Amino acid sequence: MTQKKQNLETIRAAWDAYHADYMQFHLKEWPDFYDHFANGGTILDDEVVRALGDVKGLTLLDVCCACDAKQAFSWANLGARVTACDLSPEAIRIARDNAARIGSEIEFHIADAQTLEPIPDVTFDIVFATYLCWFENIPLACKNWYRVMRPGGRMLMYFHHPFTACLEARDGSLVLERDYFDLEPDCRNFSGTPLADRHGGWNKRLPCVEFHHTLADIMTAGLSAGFRLLDMGEHSHVSDGPLSKLPSHALLVWRKPERSHNLAMHSDGNSAASIHSTASGYLPWVSKIAAGRRNGSGA
Ligand SMILES: C[S@@+](CC[C@H](N)C(=O)[O-])C[C@H]1O[C@@H](n2cnc3c(N)ncnc32)[C@H](O)[C@@H]1O
Repeated sequence: MTQKKQNLETIRAAWDAYHADYMQFHLKEWPDFYDHFANGGTILDDEVVRALGDVKGLTLLDVCCACDAKQAFSWANLGARVTACDLSPEAIRIARDNAARIGSEIEFHIADAQTLEPIPDVTFDIVFATYLCWFENIPLACKNWYRVMRPGGRMLMYFHHPFTACLEARDGSLVLERDYFDLEPDCRNFSGTPLADRHGGWNKRLPCVEFHHTLADIMTAGLSAGFRLLDMGEHSHVSDGPLSKLPSHALLVWRKPERSHNLAMHSDGNSAASIHSTASGYLPWVSKIAAGRRNGSGA
């Protein structure tokens, strides 16, 4: 098994073990979860809804919905025709159960968001991609998100800001927790999410892997896949302390051009060359955005 495949199986096993308890934590915090969505409720952040505007009648793919599928239910309640994927079979089992209780007609698939294997080409008007920290190969993911979209379709990426992900607030100060330029997979014990921490913690610790991507890597992956950048936003969802002075989330809206490009792509999803596009776009020419450590004094 390759290291990448092993990483994927480690992540799947950790999340498979967590999802049933994760759903219980959701219900503890939010007892009217089912009624909320059955009555047409939503939970999406304002900037996310604003970024896509009216989604009524549009086909939308949520690439990692989790067991609660609360974002998928929200898009469906805003009128989109939603398909939702997750790597974990247990997430999809619970999400289907939730959909039955809510009376929602979302179609669910077990799929790795990076390959979207059961999803046919040219299917969706919108791809909604969150939690990029679980995806090891962002160029491959972008290539497949592009593949499943209709020409003219849009992709919304909404993720924890990679700068802020390197910082932690401790005693009112910011502490640098990781090197922004260190792209080694982060192997650590998985002990649930902050939601579990708010409810007494999760009683397991399982091996897991997370991935850090620089903003430049994410932008370059989107551009190399053939997308045009429509919009970018940085937002804070931290209400107090030093982290509230920095963006907690980044938002990117991309469009798949009406006419396709010829992009040389290696099988690992990395683009072989800079972008050569003939389609009319929203940004003039951007072929690569780079982040790098600058050695020397820099004076
Ligand atoms: C924090 S949860 C997302 C929760 C939900 N989307 C939300 O924002 O409330 C992360 C999810 O990603 C899923 N996941 C991890 N790696 C994945 C992959 N390669 N493809 C698809 N889903 C993945 C996990 O099973 C888990 O359900």
